[in-house]
Amino acid sequence: MLLRGDHVIRDAEGNEHETRRPVSAVCMCGGSAIKPWCDGTHKAIEKRRGQRTSR
Ligand code: FES
Repeated sequence: MLLRGDHVIRDAEGNEHETRRPVSAVCMCGGSAIKPWCDGTHKAIEKRRGQRTSR
């Protein structure tokens, strides 16, 4: 999920995180190592799921 502009988001523990860029990507897959922000891990997860379903 992409956020444009200034926002404050709250994670599952209740911690607030301010956006610091013109566009910020929020992790929606739960796999990021830098939650609440997306680090691209979703691509590896999607790839693994694709490989599993193609067998
Ligand atoms: S959406 Fe979770 S790492 Fe990108």
